[in-house]
Amino acid sequence: MSKPRKVFSCSACGADFAQWMGRCPRCGEWNTLEEDRAPSARVHTGIRPEREAPVPITAIATAGLARCECGLPEVDRVLGGGVVPGSLVLIGGDPGVGKSTLMLQVSQSLAARGQRILYVSGEESPTQLKLRGERLGVKSDNILVYSEVTIESIRRQIGLIRPDLVIIDSIQAVFSAVQDSPPGSMSQIRHTAGVCMEIAKGEGVTIFVIGHVTKDGWIAGPKMLEHMVDTVLYFEGEHSGAFRILRAVKNRFGPTGEIGVFEMQDTGLREVQDPSSIFVHGLGGDVPGSAVMATLEGSRAIVAEVQSLVSSTAFSQPRRIAMGIDTSRLNVLLAVLEKRAGVFLSASDVVVNVAGGMKVIEPACDLAVAMAVASGTLDRVVPRGTVCIGEIGLAGELRPVGNMEARLREASRMGFTQAVIPKAGSESLAPPRRDFTLRPFVLIGNALSVLA
Ligand code: TYD
Ligand code: MG
Repeated sequence: MSKPRKVFSCSACGADFAQWMGRCPRCGEWNTLEEDRAPSARVHTGIRPEREAPVPITAIATAGLARCECGLPEVDRVLGGGVVPGSLVLIGGDPGVGKSTLMLQVSQSLAARGQRILYVSGEESPTQLKLRGERLGVKSDNILVYSEVTIESIRRQIGLIRPDLVIIDSIQAVFSAVQDSPPGSMSQIRHTAGVCMEIAKGEGVTIFVIGHVTKDGWIAGPKMLEHMVDTVLYFEGEHSGAFRILRAVKNRFGPTGEIGVFEMQDTGLREVQDPSSIFVHGLGGDVPGSAVMATLEGSRAIVAEVQSLVSSTAFSQPRRIAMGIDTSRLNVLLAVLEKRAGVFLSASDVVVNVAGGMKVIEPACDLAVAMAVASGTLDRVVPRGTVCIGEIGLAGELRPVGNMEARLREASRMGFTQAVIPKAGSESLAPPRRDFTLRPFVLIGNALSVLA
């Protein structure tokens, strides 16, 4: 292995140089260059060196986590109730999805609460950031913009400024000058994340690290960091659509599975506090091929519409297109519909779409997908005001799902008046309202009898 290069940094202006000089060529100060010590192996693990002796678990003081609400309820919910000081949070997402916009809005909100933010921009110039900030109404002297790409300089500035929150935009743009590997390489990303972890834990400062996830290979970058950081959030959404979903996939300080919903507007991201209202319009029952599901996202139930288009195929192998649900799951449901419920689909192209760009992974949505497809094929509508909730087994049986009560409550709140549900587990279930009807069925074949 080659020896790491030495780096000398100016303590006055923060510039880095490969050799020691008496006078900093950038700011002209004398005797300000200091050697940055090369990081030792422990940095790579992200673990602090000075550990105390082992203690019994019962003897550990449990002073509550001093969370700090960032003032954007959708973000706070995903984080598990607010920002935990000293935590390292990774925000991943496609380029252009709105990660920088979101972080700038979080900065603004925290700055308005008196916190000091250091926004390290390795991708955009301060002018670009300022222009974006103007669109978002960002006006605070507490937000300091630092256009820098070496982690050594960033670390030094954090030591000097002592901010409450640091945003690194993005991890792919930041690198260590003492590492030989090129900026953006795996070892650089791992190393800089390790340093970030050390700073976060050592200084008690919260660090949000932005990581781009693209289909052409970068997925490995942020994915590799998931085990190192405390919290992993993914920001997702269709670029063509306005809605964005922030999802916690790992959280050492709170639950995962929570989502925050946003709408991208001209003036930045607007929080959507009632997501059901954007994923479902009206109560259905107008056209064949549509059904409404109630999915659980973390602690919140969301009612969403699933649509299908079934048409006779012009190909030897019919096409199946799934948007918002898994394609292989759709194929399984189509096979079950054909084999167990007699809905002939092997000569039809099937397109299924969850409205609003929502992505659902829950099996509890099987019944709504199957009902939408059956409704489209048979040209009979799911009656107005009906929500369909349940998992479908390979034998065509409807299987119970978790927290049915919360799903029914949300459907009822949105004005729905009946629910098609699995019979299994429905015995102890009470309808959320007196005029709300539960329609329990054992098999998918029987459930199709509600189609009008
Ligand atoms: P950005 O935050 O730069 O994405 P990322 O950091 O994830 O790469 O968001 C870029 C997109 O968001 C861009 O296509 C324009 C759009 N946008 C708006 O629609 N409204 C706004 O107010 C802002 C700031 C961005
Ligand atoms: Mg960006």
